[in-house]
Amino acid sequence: MSALIEFDNLHYTFPGSRMPALRGATLRIEAGQRIVLLGRNGAGKSTLLLHANGILRPAAGQVRLNGKPLEYTRRGLLMVRRQVGVVFQNPDDQLFSASVRQDISFGPLNLGLSIDEVRHRVAAAADLCGVGDLLDRPTHALSGGQKTRVALAGVLAMGPDILLVDEATSGLDPWMRRQVFAIFNRLVERGATVVLATHDLDAAQHWADTVVVMHEGRVAVAAPAAKVFTDPDLRAQVGPEIER
Ligand SMILES: Nc1ncnc2c1ncn2[C@@H]1O[C@H](COP(=O)(O)OP(=O)(O)OP(=O)(O)O)[C@@H](O)[C@H]1O
Ligand SMILES: [Mg+2]
Repeated sequence: MSALIEFDNLHYTFPGSRMPALRGATLRIEAGQRIVLLGRNGAGKSTLLLHANGILRPAAGQVRLNGKPLEYTRRGLLMVRRQVGVVFQNPDDQLFSASVRQDISFGPLNLGLSIDEVRHRVAAAADLCGVGDLLDRPTHALSGGQKTRVALAGVLAMGPDILLVDEATSGLDPWMRRQVFAIFNRLVERGATVVLATHDLDAAQHWADTVVVMHEGRVAVAAPAAKVFTDPDLRAQVGPEIER
């Protein structure tokens, strides 16, 4: 059976940079997983996530969704974004509308849904992320954690099968952090997959079922979470990436 999403030997170098950010990154992701993506600063986590919904296009290698290579046309990318949601590391890169409501509505409107359906989805996603009372506020006037939650709501309103979240949980207060993990769990229970790129080893140990470790633009380890922290061979291989 084909994987939900597959990154096959991706190579990517940012324009103007001499160092490749991805050097043969390969990863297979199935439906219904809780994945934590670890790796040191600069390992390539964000770059990999930005390949998942076609924001970045690999110089070599292929991204496949349900076995089909991504198509980098307008139509192709719209199809991908129906299924794959990415929450950026920095919410200021994601939020660009005047108001919170407009921002959360942007994705669902682009899907061509009816106004009623968009309204319904925006209200539901905003409630879920605890920003229902911020809908009429200008996005630029929010706190960092509020912006993160608005960005998450905008992605959830699209109803993704795979949600890739870059760091976003680190700037949240403990209460909101628990809420966000509860949202992730709900998605997984419905059959979606959540990938969280983070330096939070607690999340890796206590929330993830699969731990992926990147190192210098490659996926160094992808294994069941329990094994990564207990198997001596894996521990040795992962080494500095997971040492506290
Ligand atoms: N916009 C950019 N322009 C040029 N180089 C970039 C850009 N973004 C990232 N890079 C480079 O690509 C490599 C991978 O970076 P990436 O942001 O994917 O790492 P990361 O694992 O997400 O790190 P962090 O834990 O700090 O978020 C690094 O060498 C980085 O310097
Ligand atoms: Mg990053």
